[in-house]
Amino acid sequence: MLDWEELIRECTNCIRCDLGKTRTNIVIGRGNIHAPMMLIGEGPGEQEDKEGLPFVGPAGKLLDLLLNAMMIKEKYYYICNIVKCRPPGNRIPTDEEAAQCIPFLRNQVALIRPKIIVCLGSTAVKYVVDRNARITQIRGQWIDKKGYWIMPTFHPAALLRDDSKKVLMWKDFKKVKEKLDEIVANGECV
Ligand code: URA
Repeated sequence: MLDWEELIRECTNCIRCDLGKTRTNIVIGRGNIHAPMMLIGEGPGEQEDKEGLPFVGPAGKLLDLLLNAMMIKEKYYYICNIVKCRPPGNRIPTDEEAAQCIPFLRNQVALIRPKIIVCLGSTAVKYVVDRNARITQIRGQWIDKKGYWIMPTFHPAALLRDDSKKVLMWKDFKKVKEKLDEIVANGECV
């Protein structure tokens, strides 16, 4: 396992897949590296690629609104993606790209040791929960896997396309907030 410094260096130099050739910046993550919760999305978009930070574009702005409305402060989460480089045209990352990148994500999870992992959308669900899971069927229900509480929910970009998902995602995040409050109250995190 790499420490943070080594991980950042390896990611910054990474050309394990072709996304490394087209990226402007690698997008490793943002938030608190000691947080009790990790949020995992799909991959950087245009704005994220420009800034080198995850969820800073339109989907990220919507996610920030949701987190603020839920009163979930940034000190309680760390946010990152299945792949760390922007897939051209914002296409879904391929299995090969995900396979090359996921060891870095595993390393991040091992360093942070979150209690809660929120999977944002079907790509995160596919690689974190189950290749064959359908987001519409499993969202909103806690999965207890390897000592992590995993909550599958929609990707915020899906809400930009379909208003009806907002209520459902709000419900999912209410569950997340309840669990987070319990963990914080029990002193199970720094
Ligand atoms: N969508 C994602 O999945 N991740 C980002 O960082 C931005 C948009």
